Amino acid sequence: MQLHALFSAACLLAASSIAMADSLPLRVVSFNIRYAATVRETNERPWSERRVGLIEQLKAVTSANGTAGVAVLGLQEVLDGQLSDIKNGLGAATWAHVGFGRDDGAKAGEYSPILYRADLLRLVYSEMKWLSPTPDRASFGWGAGSRRVVTIAVLEHAASGRRFLHANTHLDNVSALARTEGIKVALARVQAVQALHGPLGVVLTGDFNSEPGGDAYATLESTGYLTEVWYSGAARRGTNQLTYTGFSATGKSRIDFVWFGPTAESRFSAQQFEFLGNDVNGIFISDHRAVVADLTLL
Ligand SMILES: *[C@@H]1O[C@H](CO)[C@@H](O)[C@H](O)[C@H]1NC(C)=O
Ligand SMILES: *[C@@H]1O[C@H](CO)[C@@H](O)[C@H](O)[C@H]1NC(C)=O
Repeated sequence: MQLHALFSAACLLAASSIAMADSLPLRVVSFNIRYAATVRETNERPWSERRVGLIEQLKAVTSANGTAGVAVLGLQEVLDGQLSDIKNGLGAATWAHVGFGRDDGAKAGEYSPILYRADLLRLVYSEMKWLSPTPDRASFGWGAGSRRVVTIAVLEHAASGRRFLHANTHLDNVSALARTEGIKVALARVQAVQALHGPLGVVLTGDFNSEPGGDAYATLESTGYLTEVWYSGAARRGTNQLTYTGFSATGKSRIDFVWFGPTAESRFSAQQFEFLGNDVNGIFISDHRAVVADLTLL
């Protein structure tokens, strides 16, 4: 009896120390892939041409499977057909997504989806909310040019049981008020999900349409809740320093980000990050570059 109790206690201790020691490398990607436009910009090829190199790049980024980290993708401007193309390209049997079209909460309009490996990660919880005074229904907020959303997933690494929260968003390109109020809604939802499922490590990916120090960026930064990977001490790989390019080889601004935290809880370490080239085999795959951050959930 005593021996059995001791043995159980030892097992519990062993299990808890394994769980605690089991750090999880994550590769977190933020990428505005540009919606499949019919009226195209200068140097913009049709999606049917762009998707070849774009999928090739995403495949390369996600193929490490745990050496560089289990990859999670926060994409923006993804129309329903583009989402199918990307999932089929990466492997529809292994890749799943959360998120819906922002115009109707189903398939209409752009998604800000989170794509994850369903064979490595289990979906614990997900939601999509509109960045407006009425987050539960398809709506515009604060003078926004488009309906804007935040997509949230709580994911569990099947092999280790480790959980984290991923939020992904695309803030408005017209109204600064919509961006600053929008990021507040997104953050409030992250904290509401934390209250239900946490405390969890958080990653936030997104196209903020706001540069470091600018409206929405400064609003989020001033909360101190999350750290942007650029200022985390992680090594910057490659030469690109800007993420928006407008279908050119020259960067124009840095508006796409990976944030992590909660900063006060030190749940992650950040190893490195890179802004990938957007020219693949002579075709601009998007008007943004992918942001790739290698983090470890401690
Ligand atoms: C990672 O997983 C993908 C999909 O299952 C597979 O095609 C690829 O070979 C794996 N890569 C490594 C390095 O194991
Ligand atoms: C905002 O984005 C939409 C959709 O891409 C575009 O039609 C519109 O021209 C943009 N507005 C501004 C002010 O950049």
